[in-house]
Amino acid sequence: MNDLTPTREQRTAALEGMGCKRKRVEDIRFTQGRGNYVDDVKLPGMLHGDFVRSPHPHARVKSINSEEALKVPGVLAVITAETLKTVNLAWMPTLAGDVQMVLADGKVLFQNQEVAFVVATDRYAADDGINKVVVEYEPLPVVIDPFKAMDADAPVLREDLAGKTSGAHGPRKHHNHIFEWTVGDKELTDSAFKKAEVTIKEMISYHRTHPSPLETCQCVCSFDKIKGELTIYGTFQAPHVIRTVVSLIAKLPEQKIHVIAPDIGGGFGNKVGAYPGYICAAVASIVTGKPVKWVEDRIENLTATSFARDYHMTTEIAATKEGKVTGLRVHVLADHGAFDACADPSKWPAGFFNIVTGSYDFPVAHLAVDGIYTNKAPGGVAYRCSFRVTEAAYCIERAMDILAQKLNMDPAELRLKNFIKPEQFPYHSALGWEYDSGDYHTAMKKMMESTNYVALRKEQAEKRAAFKRGETRDIMGLGVSFFTEIVGAGPSKNCDILGIAMFDSCEIRMHPTGAGIARVGSKSQGQGHETTWAQIIATEIGIPADNIMVEEGNTDTAPYGLGTYGSRSTPVAGAAIAMAARKIKAKAQMIAAYKLEVHEDDLEWDIDGFRVKGLPEKTMSMKDICWAAYNSVPPGMEPGLEAVSYYDPPNMTYPFGAYLCVMDIDVDTGVYKVRRFYALDDCGTRINPMIIEGQVHGGLTEAFAIAMGQEIRYDDAGNVVTGSFMDFFMPTAVETPHWETDFTVTPSPHHPIGAKGVGESPNVGGVPAFSNAVNDAFSFLGSTHIQMPHDFWRNWRAAKELGAVA
Ligand code: CDP
Repeated sequence: MNDLTPTREQRTAALEGMGCKRKRVEDIRFTQGRGNYVDDVKLPGMLHGDFVRSPHPHARVKSINSEEALKVPGVLAVITAETLKTVNLAWMPTLAGDVQMVLADGKVLFQNQEVAFVVATDRYAADDGINKVVVEYEPLPVVIDPFKAMDADAPVLREDLAGKTSGAHGPRKHHNHIFEWTVGDKELTDSAFKKAEVTIKEMISYHRTHPSPLETCQCVCSFDKIKGELTIYGTFQAPHVIRTVVSLIAKLPEQKIHVIAPDIGGGFGNKVGAYPGYICAAVASIVTGKPVKWVEDRIENLTATSFARDYHMTTEIAATKEGKVTGLRVHVLADHGAFDACADPSKWPAGFFNIVTGSYDFPVAHLAVDGIYTNKAPGGVAYRCSFRVTEAAYCIERAMDILAQKLNMDPAELRLKNFIKPEQFPYHSALGWEYDSGDYHTAMKKMMESTNYVALRKEQAEKRAAFKRGETRDIMGLGVSFFTEIVGAGPSKNCDILGIAMFDSCEIRMHPTGAGIARVGSKSQGQGHETTWAQIIATEIGIPADNIMVEEGNTDTAPYGLGTYGSRSTPVAGAAIAMAARKIKAKAQMIAAYKLEVHEDDLEWDIDGFRVKGLPEKTMSMKDICWAAYNSVPPGMEPGLEAVSYYDPPNMTYPFGAYLCVMDIDVDTGVYKVRRFYALDDCGTRINPMIIEGQVHGGLTEAFAIAMGQEIRYDDAGNVVTGSFMDFFMPTAVETPHWETDFTVTPSPHHPIGAKGVGESPNVGGVPAFSNAVNDAFSFLGSTHIQMPHDFWRNWRAAKELGAVA
């Protein structure tokens, strides 16, 4: 070895593999305004479509008159449900086993529902056309309060379901009922409650909110009449699923549909499902033979495409006097809006809400979820959450605080007492999951030490005394939250979408010069996959990450995958990437053995190539193997170096974290200040610590928004009153608190590289931390539970109701 020979450390660093804070390669184009988003797609002769929407939340549509609209210069067509019926597309199937109107068919069921689609030569003409379409409505009584949806005299919303006593998920109890889903042992749970020394019961609501990505939902559909091929550019989190759905409902051969998801400006679950805009743009393109673009505006996005949450969770815990939990009972009223268009794996009508036992060793539990229809927009998507896990984490984390309050115990101490212990993993929860790995005590204690939790509690006690003496008007809250997520949907044994198992995929093709391309079935919407996927490959096969190009989102080139949502990319696609890389490495080993004239078993891997065991100077680098793959492979072996892997995960992964929020609230104004927010995350093996930190910052900011103000609110008449960023809280850098991040590492035992997902974790753990901080602040004034969101006005109202304000 001479001075110029790189050291092992230098060879490892040159790869920029796993564990490296590699800079995001995609940012080179994003920061220079050179991204390519759907709205950048401009095709020759492209037309524009826009919707006439209902001002009524529930009304019969008596007539639609397009005569005047068609006279507007530039307007070419007005599509209604009657038009769509001619091609059998007036209704479309939802991912949840329901059907949904594409355009109003006889009635409308929520405000801003799509009624007609105006196609014009430009967006302005389409908008002028919309204003000229005359729709005659007959208003009907509305159902907005989910607790009244199943009243005997509640108006019938879904007339198309008349006489149907069962739906996709079993029997229906009422004309506005969708399903009842139960899990767990009711008898054992009831008996635990009978024997309990202490119980708590609280109705904990997680209000309706919306993912609101900065880029709204949009598409360009282009039908080539000669070839009979449909190309769709769209903001799709799951492009392959969209291709299959379009093929099934439009009856077009799947090979003639090309779905391309270019750069996406945030998804957060909003871009998983299929929307009327996609169907109408496709039909309009097929009818006119021209490309048709549909781009939602902000109001349309907030009021008509997928909402999130709207879960009302009556929660009971049974426990001993010493604070050991003995049973959990939860009933959820799930408001699904006008159609059941939840984006969950098919067999899970309430997603993975049965993770509601959280991080605690509940011996027994029972859960019942009733899904109901109301006059609100459909959706129920996993807004930065793995299928209702955020709702579950909020439910159990609030409930544990309420129990701590009743027992007069510290919330952190109560959690430590009830955590699943490290030696209990793999842990079988009372509601049916097998947690893969965890070390909750270490994480919690690290959080408590890093934040000086004990001193903060002491300060709080002093502040409370000062408040009571009238020396301050500020109250201080400590919001503890400890969450366990369930991410990586999912194993084919229990997860599918429309019958397609939820595997994911990767194809790696190495070129002769030691560079390569990896095509993956996931689809980044800002998570940095182009950066991190190359890092996995770099570590696995010893080729620098810079030499691996990552491509996603084109159904013609990427292998079939189920897309990106619910932090599934790392657990599923990340595993497929490692497995494909290992196939490359296995073939490379055979080539190296042939070239080095030794048996394969005599070779060992060494950072970026193979060396002969016992003869460290006899080596062959991966770069050289790539060249050899194209000119001198062993006799009988096919040339080339490529591999594909479809990965069906054996289990989900279970990341976890310990968060603390320190908040001060001025009771006279309700104004809060987040003094400190500490987030410790454990997502197993960390691929890129910098990207993880970015994911945590983003997720915490969304959690902050949701807990502290963000809400889709309806008035009693069914009008959406939060339809723009003027009234829907979207925090900017001004409002966003400072985030402190930390970590522990507990690898997943079944994942090829030990990694778990992380993208959703900060949202899942963040919301209860904020809400617990507010509730903790008010608890000494006698309150048990204050519903979210905790905006200034609601804080002030809480203070007033508790007698703290005159
Ligand atoms: O499915 P989605 O991409 O939203 O979520 P994810 O699997 O949690 O990954 C989000 C980003 O964090 C990706 O770029 C991952 O590669 C990265 N990540 C990581 O570096 N290490 C982990 N253990 C988990 C995620």
